Amino acid sequence: MINNISKKLLTLVALVFVLTIQSFAQDGDAAAGETLFKNNCAQCHAADASVVVGPGLAGIEDRRDFAWIKKWVNNPAAVISSGDKYAVELYEKYNKTQMTAFPAYGEAEIKNILAYVKAANAAPVVAEGAPAAAPVQEASGGKFFNVVLVSLLVIMALVLVALLAVLKLLSTIAQGGSPESSVSGLESFKATLKGLASNKTIVTAVIWMFVLLGTKATLDGLYSIGVHQGYAPTQPINFSHKLHAGDMEINCAYCHTGVYKGKQSGIPSSSICMNCHNTIKRESPEIQKIYTAIEKNQPIEWVRVHNLPDLAYFNHSQHTNVAGLDCANCHGDIKNMEVVEQRHTLTMGWCIDCHRKTDVNAKGNAYYDALLTAHNSSSKEAMKVEDIGGLECAKCHY
Ligand code: HEC
Ligand code: HEC
Ligand code: HEC
Ligand code: HEC
Ligand code: HEC
Ligand code: HEC
Repeated sequence: MINNISKKLLTLVALVFVLTIQSFAQDGDAAAGETLFKNNCAQCHAADASVVVGPGLAGIEDRRDFAWIKKWVNNPAAVISSGDKYAVELYEKYNKTQMTAFPAYGEAEIKNILAYVKAANAAPVVAEGAPAAAPVQEASGGKFFNVVLVSLLVIMALVLVALLAVLKLLSTIAQGGSPESSVSGLESFKATLKGLASNKTIVTAVIWMFVLLGTKATLDGLYSIGVHQGYAPTQPINFSHKLHAGDMEINCAYCHTGVYKGKQSGIPSSSICMNCHNTIKRESPEIQKIYTAIEKNQPIEWVRVHNLPDLAYFNHSQHTNVAGLDCANCHGDIKNMEVVEQRHTLTMGWCIDCHRKTDVNAKGNAYYDALLTAHNSSSKEAMKVEDIGGLECAKCHY
């Protein structure tokens, strides 16, 4: 009987624990949302009200209800083609720019993103001229969450022990003994503790819990080694993409001449700058640096921002020309950067993730006709990059 009741108790405690975690997830975890947002939405959306490629997401929950937002993020094309008036107008307003679909996002992911958007807008304005939306403290947010989880676990364990002690006491009474005639409450509590400590299953479970938490912390640390997301080194010349590519709308390929043709985009040589700067702003000390480099016959020593390890193969033309992807998908909103910053992790997981969810742009490309026919005969889903071998090790590794 006792065993039965303690089993039920255990289940109850586990249930309460799971529910507590879920109630945390209910409102969305802004720190997790920030990572999702920066990796997947930030190239097209700002968290405040400013327009990037699409509208700023500030106040989105006032404009649309959650169900709509989820449907939209999972499959914007479907919402537009369903004739939804709001969606159609938005689509027209943004020059029929197709938003990327995120079919794999469940409620949790979207709630996390919305929580981040809300938090970013709630952040107080620090001072005049300072950015209005201070980024949510990702690291401390995650740590705080972990601390709460661990404390909850400890409290749960204590409650469990206390309950088991009471049970034992009750059962002694039920068996006819009086509480005094058996052991005192404190002793029974101690006995239960001892019982628990000698119960192999429980001891193993506790050990596993700590091993798993430890492993997670170690892995989190290891995964961030060699990841340079956010890297934005100071360059030898104060060159601004916002001015040249944004305000003046100079085509990216004017300077990055290889980007549609080859593996490498290439960094422009001084002579490309000279097409304009032999007449424009010659007197500026920054422009004088270009002259000095040319006179000394030395290249300008730009600091490389994006850099995959040698073991990986990446080809630009395959992505820009064949797949028709915009630079912003992988480099973020360069047109608004005074200093280039690496916006994505550039890890293997990042490449694979996109290959899993992006449709192959097979329209008007005879090369894909046979593949497409074969694919469509066996699957109702659109042909993704993974279906043409985009997950094969040898495609990306020498
Ligand atoms: C490639 C660019 C792109 C990416 C990436 C992108 N969006 Fe969008 N999004 C758009 C555009 C453009 C619109 C405006 C409607 C249109 O043209 O289809 C839009 C509209 C929206 C809207 C409706 C906004 C409003 O004011 O009603 C929401 C919500 C939204 N996006 C959420 C997201 C989320 C969340 C992500 C990341 C998981 C994301 N988007 C990623 C381009 C993008
Ligand atoms: C298509 C023409 C064009 C090309 C090519 C070009 N620039 Fe510029 N650049 C401009 C114009 C126009 C300005 C703005 C001048 C002004 O502020 O009046 C400018 C401004 C600058 C400034 C700011 C100067 C200052 O003191 O305000 C720097 C630095 C600069 N360019 C560097 C470069 C470099 C480096 C390259 C080559 C990689 C380059 N530019 C290529 C047109 C060009
Ligand atoms: C006027 C010439 C010019 C134009 C136009 C231009 N760039 Fe650049 N770009 C440069 C120069 C010079 C550098 C190296 C210095 C730096 O990182 O700012 C660079 C660096 C970069 C880098 C980082 C390279 C690295 O080291 O990893 C990226 C990414 C990039 N550009 C993308 C773009 C995109 C996208 C566009 C179009 C929206 C664009 N550029 C337009 C001149 C240009
Ligand atoms: C599918 C993702 C993706 C797209 C789309 C993309 N890039 Fe890149 N880009 C990368 C990666 C990854 C690297 C690092 C490559 C390496 O280290 O070998 C890179 C590196 C660069 C570099 C510096 C190194 C080099 O290759 O010379 C420049 C400049 C650059 N990209 C410009 C652009 C421009 C301009 C566009 C749009 C016309 C663009 N990229 C589109 C992923 C992308
Ligand atoms: C934004 C989405 C996106 C990202 C990020 C991305 N890719 Fe791709 N990739 C594509 C698409 C779309 C294609 C299909 C192009 C085509 O039609 O051949 C592709 C094709 C490829 C192919 C050829 C696959 C084949 O079977 O022919 C290779 C290799 C590749 N990508 C490597 C990479 C590497 C390495 C990275 C990360 C550094 C990366 N990609 C990141 C979208 C992406
Ligand atoms: C779409 C491209 C792509 C595919 C497919 C791919 N990789 Fe990778 N892989 C990468 C990139 C990019 C890196 C470098 C990432 C980094 O520096 O974090 C990498 C890194 C690695 C590393 C080094 C790990 C590290 O952290 O340094 C190993 C090992 C590896 N890949 C094995 C594999 C195996 C095995 C497969 C097949 C099952 C595979 N890869 C398929 C793109 C790919």
